[in-house]
Amino acid sequence: MDSNIRPDTMARITTLELAEQFIAEQVAAVREQVGNKKVLLALSGGVDSSVVAALLIKAIGKQLVCVHVNHGLMRKGESEQVIEIFQNQLDANLIYVDATDRFLDLLKDVAEPEKKRKIIGGEFIKVFDEEASKLEGISFLAQGTIYPDILESDGVKAHHNVGGLPEDMQFELVEPVKLLYKDEVRVVGEALGLPHAMVYRQPFPGPGLGVRCLGAITRDRLHALREADAILREEFDNAGLAEHVWQYFIAVPDFKSVGVKDGKRYEGWPAIMRAVNTTDAMSATIEEIPYAVLHKITDRITHEVDGINRVLYDLTPKPIGTIEWE
Ligand code: XMP
Repeated sequence: MDSNIRPDTMARITTLELAEQFIAEQVAAVREQVGNKKVLLALSGGVDSSVVAALLIKAIGKQLVCVHVNHGLMRKGESEQVIEIFQNQLDANLIYVDATDRFLDLLKDVAEPEKKRKIIGGEFIKVFDEEASKLEGISFLAQGTIYPDILESDGVKAHHNVGGLPEDMQFELVEPVKLLYKDEVRVVGEALGLPHAMVYRQPFPGPGLGVRCLGAITRDRLHALREADAILREEFDNAGLAEHVWQYFIAVPDFKSVGVKDGKRYEGWPAIMRAVNTTDAMSATIEEIPYAVLHKITDRITHEVDGINRVLYDLTPKPIGTIEWE
């Protein structure tokens, strides 16, 4: 039987009980597959790689080596959360690589979106490869492949994901959640004790804030974007919107407009808010956000974030606007 086909008899994992049963089966299967050898995992902090990490830590503990590459394009606090949960709480074997300067130096003056994506993806593989080659005795590579990735092998993740690996890496794969749908991965993640916010995290593109800091990325504008995005997320949480909106974020274009602050001319970038609902990301509708929330976010961003002097709300559904701006 093809191990990449989900058997018709496999129950949809919707409860803690079913999740625990799945975890017990996979723990046994992984131990059987891996023996006393070592497994490497690129841990991005996304739902799938986080759940795989937690599952493998349970199965093989320190035989798992997690590598978290911070490309400098993460949202505020994300790399810190990976370290807190996996290193401090789960006592994982975690290698943290802060490659911010490498990525931002390479991206300097590069304005073309697809070129930016290529640079980020290519450099990610390089950094991960360098870390892998420093390690000894790795026999397996774990991946957070999920069933939709197999079904749509040309789907979003396949060509979008930054976590692709060099073709000459000779590892056997460990893919414990490859037959699960996303909702099941989340149930399993919660059963493994991962925080709700991590397991129900909204989708975040592999190139991260790189495709939201529009045009050629500068450190000051990237910083403003990260701070504004953190405010948006905080206020969506406060307003109870986080559970109702599929994806929401800020994009900051590379032009300025005139404003006034403390009686003086104040040129700044606009922060563009986007909040969409969708089931498959192929089309998306715009979420109605209460005006009071929009005002609060605008007030906070324009007062708290250096360099931003206007806040706009993007009302464009997909089609015609894609979810991301570039
Ligand atoms: P678009 O912008 O095409 O986005 O409407 C659809 C979904 O895909 C995500 N997205 C990406 N994910 N790498 C990724 O891993 C990428 O380069 C990328 N571009 C878009 C986007 O956030 C949305 O959820």
